[in-house]
Amino acid sequence: MTLKIGIAGTGWFGKMHAEKLSAMEGVQISAFCGTSSEKAEAAASPYRDARGYESIEQMLDDRKLDAVYVCTPPFAHGEIELALVERGIPFLVEKPIGVDEDTPNRIRNAINEKGLVTSVGYHFRYMDSTSRAKDLLAVRKPLMALGQWMGSMPGVYWWRHMNTSGGQFVEQTTHIVDLMRY
Ligand SMILES: NC(=O)c1ccc[n+]([C@@H]2O[C@H](COP(=O)([O-])OP(=O)(O)OC[C@H]3O[C@@H](n4cnc5c(N)ncnc54)[C@H](O)[C@@H]3O)[C@@H](O)[C@H]2O)c1
Repeated sequence: MTLKIGIAGTGWFGKMHAEKLSAMEGVQISAFCGTSSEKAEAAASPYRDARGYESIEQMLDDRKLDAVYVCTPPFAHGEIELALVERGIPFLVEKPIGVDEDTPNRIRNAINEKGLVTSVGYHFRYMDSTSRAKDLLAVRKPLMALGQWMGSMPGVYWWRHMNTSGGQFVEQTTHIVDLMRY
């Protein structure tokens, strides 16, 4: 059986996920959707039989997908995830999951109501060292945790604006906060 995957977002990380997924046995990149059909077609072009679409609805109407990776910028969440929940399609959403509280809460409620399988791109969760830390912490009570994040200067336009990225804390330091909560 081959799993057919769709990617929402035609930027750096959507392409990165597609590349990694396409190297796995039994996984096929079937579609991309983005802000224009040209960009989506270009992102889809390395993959045999994959097509590009200019909206999530068009992609889901045209292709039968087993799962979708949501790799859009922080401000572009809500419509995509809710369309996937409505159609019962499991998805992974890249962090951060929104720039306000309302959107992620609405998505979470819809997911819970549907009982849908989902995952998130907080990659520290999936490291062997994190599993080890979880085991160690299961029998110890930490009083405090310290963390910091340093990264490079933002390259893409939305990253430099509070209303589109949520700011440095929401866009980047969120990794550390998620790791501590996890
Ligand atoms: N887990 C990690 O370590 C990690 C690493 C890099 C990026 N990310 C996250 O992935 C997300 C995307 O980052 P990126 O570097 O690929 O950004 P990017 O700007 O390179 O790409 C974003 C893409 O989304 C598209 N887009 C915007 N609005 C859309 C919409 N409504 N519908 C469909 N597509 C839309 C844009 O056209 C663009 O192609 C960000 O939230 C970022 O934080 C996570």
